[in-house]
Amino acid sequence: MCGIVGYIGNQEATSILLAGLRELEYRGYDSAGIALLETSSVKTFKAVGKLDNLAAKVGSYRSSGAVAAIGHTRWATHGKPTEANAHPHGLTHSQVVHNGIIENYQNLKSTLSTPFLSQTDSEVIVHLFEKHLDGHGNAPDAALAAFRATLDELHGAYAILLVSELTPGRVFYARKGSPLQIGFAAGGCYLASSDAPLLGLCDKAMHFEDGQWGVATADTLQVFDANGAVVEPLFAVLPASSAAAQKEGFRYFMEKEIYEQPQVLADILTGRLRDGAVEFEAFPADWLRPFRSITLCACGTSYHAALVGSYLLERLARMPVKVEIASEFRYRVPVLDPEGLFVVISQSGETADTLEALKLAKAQGLATLALCNVDNSSMIREAAQSILLRAGIEKGVASTKAFAAQVMTLWLLALHWGQAKGLLDGERWARELAALRGGIDVVKVQPALHERIHRLSKRYLHGHGFFFIGRDLFYPLALEGALKLKEISYLHAEGYPAGEMKHGPIALADAGLFTIALMARTTLWDKIKSNVEELSARDSTIVAITPEDFELADDIIRIRAHVHPMLEFFEMMVVVQLLSMEIAIRLGNDVDMPRNLAKSVTVE
Ligand code: G6P
Repeated sequence: MCGIVGYIGNQEATSILLAGLRELEYRGYDSAGIALLETSSVKTFKAVGKLDNLAAKVGSYRSSGAVAAIGHTRWATHGKPTEANAHPHGLTHSQVVHNGIIENYQNLKSTLSTPFLSQTDSEVIVHLFEKHLDGHGNAPDAALAAFRATLDELHGAYAILLVSELTPGRVFYARKGSPLQIGFAAGGCYLASSDAPLLGLCDKAMHFEDGQWGVATADTLQVFDANGAVVEPLFAVLPASSAAAQKEGFRYFMEKEIYEQPQVLADILTGRLRDGAVEFEAFPADWLRPFRSITLCACGTSYHAALVGSYLLERLARMPVKVEIASEFRYRVPVLDPEGLFVVISQSGETADTLEALKLAKAQGLATLALCNVDNSSMIREAAQSILLRAGIEKGVASTKAFAAQVMTLWLLALHWGQAKGLLDGERWARELAALRGGIDVVKVQPALHERIHRLSKRYLHGHGFFFIGRDLFYPLALEGALKLKEISYLHAEGYPAGEMKHGPIALADAGLFTIALMARTTLWDKIKSNVEELSARDSTIVAITPEDFELADDIIRIRAHVHPMLEFFEMMVVVQLLSMEIAIRLGNDVDMPRNLAKSVTVE
């Protein structure tokens, strides 16, 4: 969820690093920093906020002569976006930048006596490196061995760049679970966490594989695998444009973000499942216990996530839950439970209606919690407590991975609360835990499924409307599926509770009415089946998304069979996202920037 760059050579490094970071700013921009190792001393600059603030801090400083330099733009996960938490992190002679999460940083920290300056997980890397190098001199081989010993201690995901005053002209690097690439040109050696900063500087790059690590100079590269065996570097031609590079081979950011969902769900779980319990770093374990009820308030896609949350909180935590559309709630003169918790859910943290609803609840003395994807956003600053969604920047206007993150976070919240109330016995908890972890795999886009949806989409470009229908958890997913399709295809679509179709909408049924039926096997299968049969009998065209055979379907998009409803939910979520996207692309629309919509709506 961060961006990193590196440079080794004789060119002026501040401008190279800042230009590289600008290409990565879309990944995170709440703070940034650079470290310049010139001959044998390091100079660092850090600033909170956008890169312009860092450029202002650097001012007229320019590197001269040989330099090894590293830079980072941050999207906060551990610790607030402050200057102390901004990378690079240094100790006595070395500096590190890190993208990813070190899961065991607290354990590692407790073994070290050196003083820590930040709340980040990343700082532990530089402490370990200096500890392992201590007493072994300053030969490059000793530093390489210390770097290896450091990596051996880290659990989690990382792309790491490290420089040390003891080894000028060198950058130590490692990749595990977070991307990292390197390229060489006449001007020197360039490193980055994606292709974009390398474009125009190098023609080719080596994309490191997980487990690879080593050291680079301006014109040499040593690569090792996880077992320490030497790896022959392999370079590939770089893409032509920076926009294409940011999309990493996908046609649209929306598509890339759909494919990123496994990583998002994995990031959300990281560090939160401890000793058989769900923990949130944001607040103490018993903070939620006294609240008697919960109100979830949001707009758009976030409102749909709130609806999913209401089913989960009722079921797992036996909490009375109300769900509010923020624009309605604000003006209704609502009666609030003074002993209730008021939760706002927002990708941006800036949506005007949701923000005002939060202020209203706060003014009435309610405890407040914000679930947002953007740290330091207005809602995070306004709410008493907050949980970051960890989805990384979402560029597509139609929300996908942020929705997945909201649902996953609400599920964790429901489990956390259910446990605090003693409602989840060992067996139930084991079942939930297996499903939580299973979700990561379930949202991986299978190529055959994507291809099937792509082929099928050509049949659904006309008609007089779509009804997405589902029951229970799958009703809010139906709402979200319809919203996705509307937003980017400009076709009329509605989400409806399947059982309600007979109370009016069924009057619309004919061959030109497309029913997208979310037919979960785990949840009310017989009920949804008869609801869809009623529509089929009135000649509606049926697309069934289901793991079962269903003879009345005109088209089936088959998902895998699951034992837990949330696994069916997440797999169907990917299907409705891809279906909407494929239909919209066939209609020639720009799915990243749909007409009339904005990513962050800061007006009423
Ligand atoms: C806009 C976006 C929607 C989003 C809604 C709420 O309308 O186009 O995709 O769901 O705002 O945004 P939030 O940032 O509060 O989640």
